[in-house]
Amino acid sequence: MSFKPAKWPRRLRSQEWYGGTGRDAIYHRGWMKNQGYPHDLFDGRPIIGILNTWSDLTPCNGHLRELAEKVKAGIWEAGGFPVEVPVFSASENTFRPTAMMFRNLAALAIEEQMRGQPIDGAVLLVGCDKTTPSLLMAAASTDLPSIVVTGGPMLNGYFRGERVGSGTHLWKFSEAVKAGEMTPDEFLEAEASMSRSSGTCNTMGTASSMASMAEALGMALSGNAAIPAVDSRRRMMAQLSGRRIVQMVKDDLKPSDILSKEAFENAIRTNGAIGGSTNAVIHLLAIAGRVGIDLTLDDWDRCGRDVATIVNLMPSGEYLMEEFFYAGGLPVVLKRLGDAGLLHKDAITVSGEKIWDEVKEAVNHNEDVILPVDKALTQQGGIAVLKGNLAPNGAVIKPSAASAHLLQHRGRAVVFEDIDDYKARIGDDALDVDETCVLVLKNCGPKGYPGMAEVGNMGLPPKVLRTGVTDMVRISDARMSGTAYGTVVLHTSPEAATGGPLAVVRDGDMIELDVPGRRLHIDISEAELAERLRQWSPPIETPGSGYAWLHHAHVQGADTGADLDFLKGCRGAPVGRDSH
Ligand code: FES
Repeated sequence: MSFKPAKWPRRLRSQEWYGGTGRDAIYHRGWMKNQGYPHDLFDGRPIIGILNTWSDLTPCNGHLRELAEKVKAGIWEAGGFPVEVPVFSASENTFRPTAMMFRNLAALAIEEQMRGQPIDGAVLLVGCDKTTPSLLMAAASTDLPSIVVTGGPMLNGYFRGERVGSGTHLWKFSEAVKAGEMTPDEFLEAEASMSRSSGTCNTMGTASSMASMAEALGMALSGNAAIPAVDSRRRMMAQLSGRRIVQMVKDDLKPSDILSKEAFENAIRTNGAIGGSTNAVIHLLAIAGRVGIDLTLDDWDRCGRDVATIVNLMPSGEYLMEEFFYAGGLPVVLKRLGDAGLLHKDAITVSGEKIWDEVKEAVNHNEDVILPVDKALTQQGGIAVLKGNLAPNGAVIKPSAASAHLLQHRGRAVVFEDIDDYKARIGDDALDVDETCVLVLKNCGPKGYPGMAEVGNMGLPPKVLRTGVTDMVRISDARMSGTAYGTVVLHTSPEAATGGPLAVVRDGDMIELDVPGRRLHIDISEAELAERLRQWSPPIETPGSGYAWLHHAHVQGADTGADLDFLKGCRGAPVGRDSH
């Protein structure tokens, strides 16, 4: 892998709008000048779009307008012309039915914003879970030079002396209330301690995982992922990234130069080492689809299988992103992978350099946070991909977040037809369930929910929790929050709403989970399974109009990234025809 910079100066695409003295150029420049931009800014220098996912309703990205000012400073310093562009911001904690339903809509809208407007490169200003993949997907499809700047994680939370992780403790405290170990008033008191500063979830949840994926893919400057949102070094990173994108445009260093198969394999192994979110599986598959890289679930299993989870962060471990940053952050992890022969060292990053050259001197400052391999949280990190008659196209589980005694388990299915059925019955002490059962939740996949909500880590029945049991095997076609934990099988494909075998599991069926053997099996005969599938009919109506229709008609399975089928691939950024 090598990259040869393009010649500079040369004519950039923005000059198709602003170059020359003709009527159209005067029209385009004239409008921009009403904002006070002097004439010489349109002289052919790189125009950089700062694609900002700031929104008051995306609180994790609520500080990105301030950060954008530092990006702008860097772009000015390097001789570029920054333009800040608000883009679709799919917030994890506000969008209904689920932010995931809008990841693809955001990617579609942002791709067209990039292509249809006079920018030569982009800074992807992201943070919350879906904002990072949606902008990476858009950048991959336009192939304009792009660099990721994440908003950074929140500072540690504390409640009565205990370290409190975003999401992770929400689930823990909620279960404790159900088990009678915590009062509702204490739960309310804990709320204020969970979100202590600006920034994204402070656990190794999906936001931190995707920030790490961006860095491991080479799409962000080295060290970006872990810097806390409020640390002055986050603002420095933003400014440095602003400087860097100008040179990337001059060099014509594009996503397709960076997002190689090797880069994706680096990211998959990194996800294993950090104990990253299962959501990274879907997002990386979708991003790869946009650049035409043949990435599959089997790659996830193959590359992740022998990676030890060495980052001791919640939900798998003990600490939070703030401590990960102080310990040295992702460069230390990448160096470890490189030393173990698990990193493609020649992969190019946004710096134009090889990834190994950026991390080979990294130093671990805290071996409780970034563990030695012999003290790893698990030697079998990564994402295990399960197959069998219950998941012909695959299902995933995160072994580092699961209970060791449940990784091989055979139990009686207790089935919920959808999330409403689950909510209606899970609290009923008359429910015929004990800790040996397998909870099965249907119709929560990309089409079924719709949007594939993060409900796969369904809470345990209160009557089981009261016995002191904290984990059971759970299986669904849903996703799970990256902050969650448990022996939770997710993304079962094909999903129930499209007639996957999950759709015909019945109460009392025996289910076998064998994570070391990578097997997920329902213990009924082939003939019985075929007969049940023959009798099956779709449980949901097809939406009649709007984005819900588009999504339902075109969303693909979780096993291939749940992108819309017509958005796969790189369409580039031709400047097209002027309308004036
Ligand atoms: Fe936005 Fe976690 S909910 S980063």
